[in-house]
Amino acid sequence: MKYHVPVLLKESIEGLSIKPKGTYLDLTFGGGGHSAKILEKLSDGGKLLSFDTDEDAFLRNKINNKKIELVKSNFKFFDNHIKQRGIQKVDGILADLGVSSYQIDKEERGFTYQGKTKMDMRMNTKDSIDAIEVINTYDQEKLEDIFFKYGDIQKPKKIVKEIIKERQKKKIVDNTDFVEVLNNIFKTNISFKLLSKFFQAIRIEVNDEINSLKIMLKKSVDYLNSKGRLVVISYHSLEDRIVKNFINKSSFSSDYNKDIYGVKDEFFLKITKKPIIPSSDEINVNPRSRSAKLRIGERL
Ligand SMILES: C[S@@+](CC[C@H](N)C(=O)[O-])C[C@H]1O[C@@H](n2cnc3c(N)ncnc32)[C@H](O)[C@@H]1O
Repeated sequence: MKYHVPVLLKESIEGLSIKPKGTYLDLTFGGGGHSAKILEKLSDGGKLLSFDTDEDAFLRNKINNKKIELVKSNFKFFDNHIKQRGIQKVDGILADLGVSSYQIDKEERGFTYQGKTKMDMRMNTKDSIDAIEVINTYDQEKLEDIFFKYGDIQKPKKIVKEIIKERQKKKIVDNTDFVEVLNNIFKTNISFKLLSKFFQAIRIEVNDEINSLKIMLKKSVDYLNSKGRLVVISYHSLEDRIVKNFINKSSFSSDYNKDIYGVKDEFFLKITKKPIIPSSDEINVNPRSRSAKLRIGERL
């Protein structure tokens, strides 16, 4: 099994505009595809710190090179790790968000709706909340909220009511339990497209993905050198909107934050007017790249 095929590899590495002796962060090491390319561009004196919250990423894809250091941590804490190493600022930050192919394909990690497996979905297997807990303990309002916000499920109220009824009869543990509950609610075998929306919503909640992204973006402002690049690949509209607003408007809304004198926060020069998306050739070779959107900002 291939661990992960890197997405928008050439475009994202170009986007980092790498200086051979610069210091870079790959916040989402995964299969190490992007890290390996960054290393190719670094000379002696250059440095790369690569993060992942999932230890399987490092166990399976270790790169031996004195210019790289692997850091097992959620990227929302990247500032602590760089300070610990005496690094004040960096020249570029790459984040290729979401999950790796390995995490999806490895059934026992519990991300997939295929086969039969316990619903886990934790990227960091030491985290306390897994998917079983979310599905079986969240109340009506919280479940509606995550299906609506993270899964784009338009009218979740009735669906959630039914899920809660079903889980009272029998705890939902395996992916097959959950798929069966959904099929019963919809009175048909629901499409993979719709299934993946429910699974995505639960995964984002389990891993607190939106919160981590926002924390990381805010911190990038303080730790990027002037002209340092922020390069982010996202895979769904909620994430992309957050990244877009942050790079274009330096805020999480569609307008700038202003102080009491009306002076606005402006952190980035927008390098990508529109997001870069994979070519049809890339999508043919790697269909999982199809929803990717790459945005690049340059610290002012
Ligand atoms: C899409 S994959 C990255 C693939 C990688 N760019 C490559 O070329 O192989 C995302 C990776 O980021 C990790 N990840 C996701 N959110 C994270 C977070 N908040 N902190 C640290 N790692 C995270 C996942 O565990 C996964 O391994």
